[in-house]
Amino acid sequence: MAYRNLLTSDRGGVRTIAVNRPDKLNALDRATLGELTLAFQQARADADVRVVVLTGAGDKAFVAGADIAAMSDLGAAEAQAFSRAGQALMLTIEQLGKPVIARIQGYALGGGMELAMACHLRIAARRARLGQPEISLGLIPGFGGTQRLLRLAGRGAALELCLLGLPIDAEHALALGLVTRVVDNDALDAAVTELADGLAAAAPLALAGILDAVNTGGECALEQGLAFETQTFALCFASADMREGTRAFLERRKPLFSGH
Ligand code: COA
Repeated sequence: MAYRNLLTSDRGGVRTIAVNRPDKLNALDRATLGELTLAFQQARADADVRVVVLTGAGDKAFVAGADIAAMSDLGAAEAQAFSRAGQALMLTIEQLGKPVIARIQGYALGGGMELAMACHLRIAARRARLGQPEISLGLIPGFGGTQRLLRLAGRGAALELCLLGLPIDAEHALALGLVTRVVDNDALDAAVTELADGLAAAAPLALAGILDAVNTGGECALEQGLAFETQTFALCFASADMREGTRAFLERRKPLFSGH
């Protein structure tokens, strides 16, 4: 499928999706939100895709936010629809059932930070800058930023980043738990490849179970989360991959997971 504002490529079980508007620092307009939603739906439906890497084209930006030019003359009802479309995309990513890695090589601001936070792992180059600068536009984050930032980094960090709107560097983002790894700029691609290949070789049903259990547990009481974990754990025992994983350990060989 050809996209106007995205580049996609496959390598083994790894699908890379790149927002491709480098002249606009990969800003998200309505068309790009729609294409991203479609691209993630396709990645979910394709059993050959085991892991997705999400990034932006060029060196400068992962995504520098929602498209400010496109937003500038929206009315309130259109803004509501734009926010809902962005939030729906973020939920599609978060609930994909396959690991999604954000490869953050530069600016991840506003909607870009929100996009990164919907991914399951975030790996940043040292030069990356992250933040929620919407306040400087007289706005609040509208693609889930106030909610995911709160859940990832707590109330203090969420309020500081959203109220002041100042970008932070990658090390600061790591300290706040907003990115999961920081690497030197020229080591980013090797680090992403290693991470993605490792996940692509893992048991897909167990990966999906972990994603489901952590997503569910983040939104419910401990007892409910534990009950969900037990059911998901038990379900693994119905999979060929669980037999293969345990047998391979006992036979001192590497497991080969089929996804069944
Ligand atoms: N929406 C639309 N266009 C954007 C954009 C956005 N969020 N971010 C950058 N662009 C465009 C610029 O308008 C410029 O386009 P032009 O060349 O047609 O004028 C191009 O991308 C390059 O950006 P520029 O501002 O010239 O680069 P810079 O290196 O001087 O600054 C940033 C980089 C990221 C600091 C700056 O672009 C910026 O602050 N962007 C907006 C960030 C933001 O507020 N995001 C939240 C939006 S809700």
